Amino acid sequence: MTFEPQVPDWGKKLVAQNLDQLIIYHDWLCNTGIKTGLISPKSKQFVWDEFVVHSLYFGKIISELQGEVDVISDLGTGGGIPGIPIGITTNLTVNLIDVKEKRIFELSRLIKILNNNNIFAIQDDAYNYINKGGFLVSRCFISSEKVINSLETNKNTTYLVSSNGEDLVYDSNVFHVKHENFKINKDDIRHIDVINVK
Ligand SMILES: C[S@@+](CC[C@H](N)C(=O)[O-])C[C@H]1O[C@@H](n2cnc3c(N)ncnc32)[C@H](O)[C@@H]1O
Repeated sequence: MTFEPQVPDWGKKLVAQNLDQLIIYHDWLCNTGIKTGLISPKSKQFVWDEFVVHSLYFGKIISELQGEVDVISDLGTGGGIPGIPIGITTNLTVNLIDVKEKRIFELSRLIKILNNNNIFAIQDDAYNYINKGGFLVSRCFISSEKVINSLETNKNTTYLVSSNGEDLVYDSNVFHVKHENFKINKDDIRHIDVINVK
């Protein structure tokens, strides 16, 4: 099947200036990413829809909050998902955080290939960032339930977390949670929880 770098209507404005960079990243994921074990072998279309397009929705949510955010940290970034597409499609400073040295090494090389100066790859434990608070994003690293149980409630934190769309139990005096549902292609719906400490 031929690969099509499709973008749903919600993302067209975001990618208008930088589809070329996203395609370079997609190509890197499909080659270096798979060869070095950052992602498991998948079809080119799967990598585009599930990794690149899914990541773009994090950027869409953040860009709609503009003015409030200038630095975000992608915790448990793996192959730079969602941090790299966020950094390509916004002017935000993006910290890619992973505990594994090998991942940070490969991501640092990718950032040079992209000639990008707003994305930084940092080897660290994600929980240092969760404890500090701030603007955080994660895909497939932590559940919303664990976020609710881990965040310091005296720190100003917004955490965008990929979720399976299930209801979340939380204290509405302490947290505000918005569930976002979106399509990554014609058929498949994905979910992100936007969790704020009040
Ligand atoms: C399942 S992968 C998800 C990667 C990527 N976000 C994605 O959506 O494909 C989880 C990543 O979290 C990293 N990780 C696990 N524990 C961590 C920790 N305590 N701090 C930082 N990174 C961690 C792993 O090295 C791995 O790259």
